[in-house]
Formats: sequence, structure tokens, C-alpha cells
Amino acid sequence: MSPDSVTITDHRTGKSYDVELVDGALPAISLRQIKTPEDDFGLMTYDPAFSNTASCKSRITFIDGGQGVLRYRGYPIEQLAGRSTFLEVAYLLLDGELPTDDQLRSWSASVVQQFGIPSEYKALFRAFPPKSHPMGVFISAVAGLSTGFPDAKSVREPAERRQQIVRLLGVVPVAAAYALRAFQGATSLPDADPSLGYVDNFLRLCFAAGGGAPGGGAGEPHPVLQRAMDALFVLHADHEQNCSTSAMRNVGSSLSDPFSSLAAAAAALYGPLHGGANEAVLRMLTAIRTRDAIPEFIDRVKSGKTRLMGFGHRVYKNYDPRAKIIKKLADEVFAVQGTNPLLETAQALEKVALEDEYFVERKLYPNVDFYSGLIYQSIGFPVEMFPVLFAVGRAAGWLAQWNELIGDEEQRIARPRQIYLGPARRDYPAQRTSR
Ligand code: CMC
Repeated sequence: MSPDSVTITDHRTGKSYDVELVDGALPAISLRQIKTPEDDFGLMTYDPAFSNTASCKSRITFIDGGQGVLRYRGYPIEQLAGRSTFLEVAYLLLDGELPTDDQLRSWSASVVQQFGIPSEYKALFRAFPPKSHPMGVFISAVAGLSTGFPDAKSVREPAERRQQIVRLLGVVPVAAAYALRAFQGATSLPDADPSLGYVDNFLRLCFAAGGGAPGGGAGEPHPVLQRAMDALFVLHADHEQNCSTSAMRNVGSSLSDPFSSLAAAAAALYGPLHGGANEAVLRMLTAIRTRDAIPEFIDRVKSGKTRLMGFGHRVYKNYDPRAKIIKKLADEVFAVQGTNPLLETAQALEKVALEDEYFVERKLYPNVDFYSGLIYQSIGFPVEMFPVLFAVGRAAGWLAQWNELIGDEEQRIARPRQIYLGPARRDYPAQRTSR
């Protein structure tokens, strides 16, 4: 018997089966050999919410949830957030290695060249009434843009895939900035400046109405704010098989074009349990407002009436390493923009929760969304824009994961099974009149 195998005994039949592990995991399909005379199909696994199911093999992102470790292609997130840039990280996620200086120059230039939305598609953003949630606008626009790039359907062609990835990395930040402008009711949708970098261009498109700089000032965005945005994009760039990345892979597995798959991923991100949590945190902090209101709020959380948003994680049972970095970034941004008055409420809330038995027992710690919104708000973004900002960073990971999926010969169309609990066969009543 191989040392990398397990033996399963079926007490219904008394038979035992030796099952070889694959890279340390039990291949679910091997359970199909476990049959009874009444059930010829074989055994299935039941795993709602995929809590213990590896849906793919990946070489991109590593998480050790117990230790609070996150690495992209082996590089610790702390080093990347401190020293790399978003475009370098996007390259790393996609290609597996850091680019040389020349490679980074040409990669950055090719992404920034794609910064734009074809003019005939700008109408998409003007179709929404002011105050339309920018995430809804963003999702619709990205899906709609698939109609403008029919070549994107050739997903099996590596060169075509590469071109669409570069294109999407340029289209996504512009669609995000235009979604903000649609929310603000602005009809002018300025073009990007190809001589500027990624983050600089993005901030200028977002804040063009106020003169180009965050907070409505004219001129260059402050370098500290640029650097903070870049680091936030790095921190959000990938997180292995989370809900939105799984959506990207699921939709991509039917060979949909990457615009449609990315729109599906963004839709999954929108929910308050995932990327919508940053917006929910700010709304929660605004509602709590003062330290005095914290005990009552915590009681409501503990009695199941509400959740402490920005806390808890499926994989991390320790402090989310991204939250630690974001806390430090917040101090740098507040030194330039002035402190966000909600910071004190957030810190007091965190302290109470980390000392409370309810949260300790369940290993609930601050996640990436707990402090990020305070920074976004300080830079001048409305709360509705927070999930969109998450999507801009995560697009790099979605595309790298999608590229890995399409190139993986073991992957087929994603098609989970179910345990059917509905009625057995029955006849449509003969006396019922035809419809
Ligand atoms: N507040 C209060 N209780 C919580 C929280 C929370 N934020 N998170 C988990 N719990 C409790 C939950 O009620 C359950 O308690 P019990 O065992 O008594 O039933 C226990 O902890 C386990 O929770 P779970 O719902 O089974 O955990 P999950 O892995 O299914 O959910 C989560 C993970 C992130 C959806 C959840 O922790 C949550 O809702 N957090 C708040 C929303 C949030 O901050 N989301 C952002 C996640 S990180 C970034 C991202 O993915 O976008």
C-alpha cells in the first residue's frame, strides 16, 4: 500500500478501498468506485460552500490561515506591499516571476496604452441615473464591453488571451473611474493620459471634476496618496480561491470571454460578505459613531442580530496580514489628509472585539476590509465606490487565475453535483385542464 494513500471502509458492504492521494488531497472522483447494489452511481462528497474542497491546483497565491501568511508566487505580501507596485505585481501573478526592468517598462507601457473605453461605449456610463451604485454600473459596463471585443472569445489562443488580459487591465480602472462619475451625475468622461502611470491616471480620471487631485485639489495627486492607492491595489490583487475568483473560474470554465467572466467575478465581489464589506464597515462605523455606542452594538452582534463587518474570514483564523499593513498605511494617509474621525471608533471597536470571548472563541479578527474604507474615504472616495476599488486591484488576480485555468488540461467545465431531496416521479394530474 502506498504511504500516500488512505483506506476507506464502507460499512454498508464491508468492502475496503485504497485511495491514492493527489498532492496530499483525496480525489473526490475516486469515491465513485464505492458502490452498493442499490446505488450503481457511486459515492459523492457533500460540501456546501466548498469549505473543504480544492477546486483546482494553483501556483499563484499561498495562504496559511492559521499563521496569517499571504504570499503571491512565494513573495510575502508585506514585502510586495512595501516595495513593489501594482503593475509589477500584476505581471508577477500572471507570469510567475518578477519582471526585469525592461520587461516592467514594456508591460507598464502596454497596460497604460489600453487605458480607455472605446468612445461608442461611453454611452453605457451615461445610461444610468445619478446616484446609481458604481459597482452596478461597473459590472454592467464590463459585461457590455465584451460586445466590443469579439476576438476575446478566442480564449484557447494564448496570444489572444494575453492581449485581452492587457486590455482588461487597462479597461478596468477606466470603467471604475467612469462608474464613479456616473454615480456623481457627471456627463463628461475624460480620456486617460498615456504619459502618466497607472495609479496617477486612475486618480486623475476619478477626481477630474475637482481639478485632478483627490480631495478636489488641482495638480498632482499627493505622492503619499498615490503610493497608498498603489499599495492597496497590491494588497487586494489576489487571494486564491475566494468567492469572486471562483466565480471567474466557474464562468471561465465554460469558455466565456474574459470580459463576461470578469463581470461575473465583480458581481460575486459586490456582496457585503465579500468585497462589499468595506462599504458595509464604513456604514457600520458611521452608525455606531461614538465609543459609548460600542457595547450595545457588540451585544447585538453576539445575539445574532447583526455582524461585525470587516471581521472574520473563512481561511484566516488569525489576524489578516493585509489588515495589519492597511492599518499602517492609514497612518501615512491621515498624516497628509488629516485623521478620519471614524478611526477612533474603529480602533475602540477592534479592541473590544479582540478581548471578547465571542470573537476569541470563534477566532474572528479584523480582515482586509476593516480599515481600508477609512483610507478610501480620506482620499475622497464616496463609500459606494469602495467595492469598485477592491475590484480594480482584484482584477489582476482574476485574470491570472483565469489564465491558469484555461491553460490547465485537468480543468473541464465546472459542474457540481447535488443531493436531490425533492419529490420522486409523479404524474401531472389527468383531470387538470391544459394550460
Ligand atoms: N460577526 C459576528 N459573528 C461572526 C462574524 C462576524 N463578522 N463572522 C463570523 N461570525 C460567527 C458566525 O456567526 C459563526 O458563529 P456560530 O458558530 O455561533 O454560528 C462563526 O463565527 C463562523 O462563521 P461562519 O459564518 O461560518 O464563517 P464563514 O467562513 O462562513 O464566513 C465571512 C466568513 C467572512 C463571510 C464572515 O466572517 C463574515 O460574515 N464577516 C463579515 C463580513 C466581512 O467582513 N467580509 C469580508 C471578508 S474578507 C475580504 C473578502 O473576502 O472580501
